[in-house]
Amino acid sequence: MTESAISRIIGPLMLAPLAGYTDKAFREIAESLGADGAVTEMVSAEGLARGGEKTEALLERYPGEKALVMQIFAPSDDPVARCMERLIAHAPSVIDINCGCPVPKVVKTGAGSALMREPGMIGRIVRTIKAATDTPVSVKFRLGWDSSSINYMDFAEEAASAGADMLTLHARTRAQGYSGNADRSAFRTLSGHFSGSGILIYGSGDVFTPEDAAEMIDGYGLDGVMFARGAIGNPFIFRMTKEYMQKGSYTLPSIGERIETAERHLSLAVSYFGEHTACREMKKQLMAYLKGISGAASAKAAIGRASTEEELRAALHTLL
Ligand SMILES: Cc1cc2nc3c(=O)[nH]c(=O)nc-3n(C[C@H](O)[C@H](O)[C@H](O)COP(=O)(O)O)c2cc1C
Repeated sequence: MTESAISRIIGPLMLAPLAGYTDKAFREIAESLGADGAVTEMVSAEGLARGGEKTEALLERYPGEKALVMQIFAPSDDPVARCMERLIAHAPSVIDINCGCPVPKVVKTGAGSALMREPGMIGRIVRTIKAATDTPVSVKFRLGWDSSSINYMDFAEEAASAGADMLTLHARTRAQGYSGNADRSAFRTLSGHFSGSGILIYGSGDVFTPEDAAEMIDGYGLDGVMFARGAIGNPFIFRMTKEYMQKGSYTLPSIGERIETAERHLSLAVSYFGEHTACREMKKQLMAYLKGISGAASAKAAIGRASTEEELRAALHTLL
């Protein structure tokens, strides 16, 4: 896989993996508003190897979905080797390995950010995937386990020498979780080191505005960024960022567009997952679309109480 081959698959503005959020409905909304590609929610390699239906469902595309990065998590190369046949059957555009998840349930198995403590293992996992497929491989990792064990450069080197085609750094330690500021200086160190290598270098962490994304790409030499919390309830961020990078300014979505997009997102979720599941899962996303709208308190309360699609729509309509 050459640089041009992987960079033809995905572009600079990606929707990050977000467990509980980046299902096919959210990805479809984000891509309709300018995202250059998206990452699935993290998928257990062990669950996939065992053929779990719910696990496989996380890898389904929406009709016409193109650039889909499928992310797996595993503590070692063994479940990765066993899940490859099922994973490849979903034709991932890129296979990503989660080395950043800080959740105790995942970490105590040795997966997610626990891999930061065992850099040799990431090399074995990357080589296992490379031996099974030509699909590009990417690795998403953190600065290190905690501030006394910052090892992202050694970790990146290990992944790169095993053949990784793309590296995404979430510039926080596992100990930081999602709080504290991402350390952007690490992006420059990483992108400088791999400049000219053909490996794509992406950044994650505190990408909340078009200015954040432009600074990371233009100022820190990254090939792209992943929008995470900044895209929840705000998929317009992709369109705004493209506009900003072209013209130096951007237009915020109107309240009408926010409500209309929230409704479209709800419709897609209902069509893909059924009304019951969609209504339960969409509440947090719909609330996020209303963030910052003044006078939205009673609409949010009505969303909280709603149990049908019609009730959710009625709650949104009170703001039009
Ligand atoms: C609710 C939530 C779920 C997440 N799920 C995943 C995941 O499944 N895989 C992953 O690699 N990162 C996951 N992340 C991390 C994000 O992809 C991203 O790296 C992190 O939020 C930092 O970006 P931000 O500060 O711009 O939000 C998750 C983050 C949040 C807040």
